[in-house]
Amino acid sequence: KRALILNGPNLNMLGRRQPEIYGSTTLADIDRKLVELGQGLGVEVLTFQSNHEGELIDRIQAARDDGTDIIIINAAAYTHTSIALRDALAAVELPFIEVHLSNVHRREPFRHHSYLSDLAVGVIAGLGEEGYMAALRYAATLKRA
Ligand code: DQA
Repeated sequence: KRALILNGPNLNMLGRRQPEIYGSTTLADIDRKLVELGQGLGVEVLTFQSNHEGELIDRIQAARDDGTDIIIINAAAYTHTSIALRDALAAVELPFIEVHLSNVHRREPFRHHSYLSDLAVGVIAGLGEEGYMAALRYAATLKRA
């Protein structure tokens, strides 16, 4: 089984970016932990981060034909703005789990709406890096479509 971990804009700055909100772990650390966890679970983990909406869309489209079984996505600010990302996820018809490090519901109102949530298998917010791990553990239990 293969899981694709997608991270959106500004998440390359994790560890240095508002650590009181997003924690002090870097994205490289999170990606490494996910790859290791995946090895234990028998899930191959691929990771991709971009600050560019179109690159994220291209990567989602590529996932349709590269053997990806499930996507775990933190679309960051694009969560709240991007109909294009939503359409890409709908188009590839792959199951996905939406993850946010922070609890977006206890933050500014503009973070309360997601263009992705109603299409997602599930949504995890506020558990920090553990949210990605929980999503991967869940992904490992899903049957191949
Ligand atoms: C985020 C929450 C978003 O509102 C924000 O724009 C981010 C990160 C999170 O992981 O908590 O960049 O997705």
